[in-house]
Amino acid sequence: MRDKLLAAEKVKAIEWRDVKLGLLDQRVLPREETWLTYDSAAGVAEAIRSMVVRGAPAIGIAAAFGLVLGARARLAAGGDWQAALEEDFKVLAESRPTAVNLFWALDRMRERLQRLKEGENALAALEAEAVGIFDSDREANLTMAQLGLELIRKHQDSPQKLLTHCNTGALATGGFGTALGVIRAAHLAGLVERVFADETRPWLQGSRLTAWELAGEGVPVSLNADSAAAHLMKTEGITWVIVGADRITANGDVANKIGTYQLAVNAMHHGVRFMVVAPSSTIDMSLEEGEDIPIEERDGRELLDVGGQRIAAEVHAVNPVFDVTPADLIDAIVTEKGVVERPDAAKMAQLMCRKRLH
Ligand code: MRU
Repeated sequence: MRDKLLAAEKVKAIEWRDVKLGLLDQRVLPREETWLTYDSAAGVAEAIRSMVVRGAPAIGIAAAFGLVLGARARLAAGGDWQAALEEDFKVLAESRPTAVNLFWALDRMRERLQRLKEGENALAALEAEAVGIFDSDREANLTMAQLGLELIRKHQDSPQKLLTHCNTGALATGGFGTALGVIRAAHLAGLVERVFADETRPWLQGSRLTAWELAGEGVPVSLNADSAAAHLMKTEGITWVIVGADRITANGDVANKIGTYQLAVNAMHHGVRFMVVAPSSTIDMSLEEGEDIPIEERDGRELLDVGGQRIAAEVHAVNPVFDVTPADLIDAIVTEKGVVERPDAAKMAQLMCRKRLH
């Protein structure tokens, strides 16, 4: 299956070449495929903030490379470069608040910095660490795709109707995708009749990114308004909702794109299984429960305007871009370390003690 999965991979969104970071600009997809090049930590932080790159794992990977770019400039400037690099850590950490992969990646870069030996090439060491974060995310996705597929197979052996939210594909990760990785694997295994993709207001990750990724690979996909999801669960015989995550707390609560919580409530009501797919870098064992997760609020203009055109009345708009799904609405959390069914604090703690399965 791994080779089949790799052969099916078409999209990539992050490229590290000649100590420069290339990002496929996700703000203008699918209308335009524009690559932007970054050579500074501040530039990468701005790319994360403005959503040139988005999706929890991709944000972490970009931040790691951003730190390498910062280190290169600080080393060239001379003096106490490690002290100066703290500014880059800060700017990158402030770019977005909810996806913990960002902080996880920066912590890994800091640990590598602290392990530098006398006379070691610091830039090469940091670059290798960032490349390692990139590569291992892709590997984790391949493992999760297979685990998620097995989970579907445990319950069904014929083509199913699946529903997904936001974009969790190659665009959102180091490659292949988390929830979308499972959906891709299920498609290759002949287990997908149709994927319903929520459009994912207000930023339209579903319409612009997920629909583009799936259609490009010949996966049968229908786009639906977010508000159609409960109706589709009732009328279409959807068997699984499969989503990603931005942060999972020690008790198994899951922060993900706004709208995920209402999907989980509706899935429970309709007897639809609810699967969350995320690498262990998304799990934040330092937070006890979902209420502790900082939820990003973005500019109300994302709701008031469409394509730069005002569509709403002159009112205040509230724009929280993530919500928290409580663990007791989740059937399974799939990670590269294994699958946790009906998650709770004890099962999450056990999972985190395990080694990666690849
Ligand atoms: O605001 P975004 O587009 O960064 O939000 C992305 C999501 O919520 C994804 O579901 C999540 O990051 C998982 S991506 C593999």
